[in-house]
Amino acid sequence: MKPIKVGLLGLGTVGTGVVRIVEGHQEDLLNQVGAPIEIEKVLVQNKNKQRSINIAPGKLTDDPWEIIRDPEIDIIIEVMGGIEQTKEYILEALSLGKHVVTANKDLMALYGPEILARAQEKQCDVMYEASVAGGIPIIRTLLDGLSSDRITKVMGIVNGTTNYILTKMSQEGAAYADVLKEAQELGYAEADPTSDVEGLDAARKMTILATLGFRSNVSLDDVDVQGISSVSREDIAYAKRLGYEMKLLGIAERQDEYISVSVQPTMVRHTHPIASVNGVFNAVYVHGEAVGETMFYGAGAGELPTATSVVADLLAISKNLKLGVNGKNQLPTYREKKLKTDEQIASKYFLLLHVDDKAGVLARITQAFAEFEVSLESVVQQPNPTLPEAEIVIITHDASKAAMQKVLKAFQSMEVVKSVKSVYRVEG
Ligand code: NAP
Ligand code: HSE
Repeated sequence: MKPIKVGLLGLGTVGTGVVRIVEGHQEDLLNQVGAPIEIEKVLVQNKNKQRSINIAPGKLTDDPWEIIRDPEIDIIIEVMGGIEQTKEYILEALSLGKHVVTANKDLMALYGPEILARAQEKQCDVMYEASVAGGIPIIRTLLDGLSSDRITKVMGIVNGTTNYILTKMSQEGAAYADVLKEAQELGYAEADPTSDVEGLDAARKMTILATLGFRSNVSLDDVDVQGISSVSREDIAYAKRLGYEMKLLGIAERQDEYISVSVQPTMVRHTHPIASVNGVFNAVYVHGEAVGETMFYGAGAGELPTATSVVADLLAISKNLKLGVNGKNQLPTYREKKLKTDEQIASKYFLLLHVDDKAGVLARITQAFAEFEVSLESVVQQPNPTLPEAEIVIITHDASKAAMQKVLKAFQSMEVVKSVKSVYRVEG
């Protein structure tokens, strides 16, 4: 039994987990693959760094080409991060006939189609289960488990940092800036948290999920993105009072042949299963025409959960190697992409307005909704003794994004509307 040889690019959080699982689960891997799996070489930036695992010093290198161009290596695992240079390494590895596992959502969201096309051309496998929702096998679910169905909706909490922040704000009434600082101190949020809190990390993951769910090449530019940095504790308190939880949701929807993909803070009805996903946990809700509702929950990041997905991909490629069937079906897309217009994108909305507290104001406000055919589910004036104005909370029925934009524009020229404090999408 000839061993399968692996080159590992990166020995940080995920790379360390990969070594632990490959070494700790050798017997299971051997039984499933029928050959030993050996980590032959490991790329790091700093060979002298103290590591939490033992790696024979001869295996460490700081020269990527020593691994990528090693003819003995069958599979490259990329867990170093980065985009442009990493893409170059992966394309070269594929050109040399090596199979690739990557956990890199930034790379796959931007260059997935190009990388998968090279893999197809070279009859190689590229697998990227860990790139979305760490330990949750959602990519395999969309590619295989639900492949017989037509997916209508993929809705996910796919960023643990923002879910941790929103959960703390909801459960403790804490302010955004205080929780963000605490998340940074605990190591959940990066020193520069922009990509997480402004929704870019979630948007990249939703690009990957929407592409697989709808079998169309969705690109990052197709995703309408809004992060959580402007969510206030007052918004969250209102959400709770009305029976909702605030979540940063990625939502990909298909109606007929038309799709939309967005990431935004969303008020989720507390009875929806995704409303109870708290802390750093991730969850992806998938609705299919035939299967109906499904939901997948688990750790979205972390050493061992993420490495579990990486090593599952390594196993899948190794089994293909033994069967001689690598690179047979690398391109998951076959449907033309048709994006919904703002007239076609519909959802319920929550609005919080500060308005003049005098006769006829409510009538004028509801008239603006009526003019653009937005139907209202509820209108409540909340007593707020700290304000000179009246505070009005409105929840609409399903309304088009275009109609809501017109209503908001109309409010700008209404003197009685002092400010539109918040507007959120509502789910459930
Ligand atoms: P990390 O802890 O920062 O580790 C990165 C590793 O790559 C380090 O070992 C580093 O070397 C090495 N490295 C980075 N740039 C290099 C370069 N130019 N040349 C040589 N070596 C280089 O990163 P991570 O958290 O493990 O994440 C790795 C990838 O997995 C990223 O794409 C990330 O988005 C993805 N991911 C991570 C998680 C998670 O929970 N962390 C979850 C899902 C996906 P040194 O050790 O010498 O510094
Ligand atoms: N920054 C990401 C998160 C890590 O908070 O979910 C996993 O991709």
